[in-house]
Amino acid sequence: MVLVSPFLFTLCIVFIFSLPSDTQNINAFMEKHIVKEGVETNCNQTIKDRNIRFKNNCKFRNTFIHDTNGKKVKEMCAGIVKSTFVISKEPLPLTDCLLMGRTARLPNCGYNQTRTTGIINITCENNYPVHFAGYKSGFCASYSPCALIVITVFLLSQILLSATR
Ligand SMILES: *[C@@H]1O[C@H](CO)[C@@H](O)[C@H](O)[C@H]1NC(C)=O
Ligand SMILES: *[C@@H]1O[C@H](CO)[C@@H](O)[C@H](O)[C@H]1NC(C)=O
Ligand SMILES: *[C@@H]1O[C@H](CO)[C@@H](O)[C@H](O)[C@H]1NC(C)=O
Repeated sequence: MVLVSPFLFTLCIVFIFSLPSDTQNINAFMEKHIVKEGVETNCNQTIKDRNIRFKNNCKFRNTFIHDTNGKKVKEMCAGIVKSTFVISKEPLPLTDCLLMGRTARLPNCGYNQTRTTGIINITCENNYPVHFAGYKSGFCASYSPCALIVITVFLLSQILLSATR
């Protein structure tokens, strides 16, 4: 018993200290990318309040996912342990923030914002989202049908063009 306890004690310490890195990742993701569903988000204000930046400058672009408590993104990552890119099955409501002008300085970064919907691409790790890799919006939201539509439109336009020549 006397020999076992220090071992258990060490094990507990290791366990306690290994937890925060995961929670930090999910917390950082939530902070940067998650806002409430159905609520307008002001990019200027939210980015300032949450201190979202790139190194010591204004972040060029930041996308917010309207997903209260990150319910949907957590569902997307459930059961995924190894770092994997996962795309959403359906388009999610988003607010995309694009920095206006290169002269913007911290802490007052001015953003041009767009409400949109898109299929999101995130990195999941240990059951949680840890990185936002991008999104595809609107018309091209679902990958393969979009390619088909683009090709069809292109072919039709070629046919129409050659018919009028
Ligand atoms: C964000 O800040 C920019 C620059 O100050 C300003 O032009 C713009 O109107 C602001 N947008 C909103 C939605 O407040
Ligand atoms: C803001 O974004 C909209 C839509 O993308 C665009 O039409 C507009 O020109 C942009 N405004 C500025 C000041 O960049
Ligand atoms: C998701 O993003 C990664 C990194 O940019 C990319 O390699 C991957 O192809 C994307 N997945 C899809 C389905 O677009």
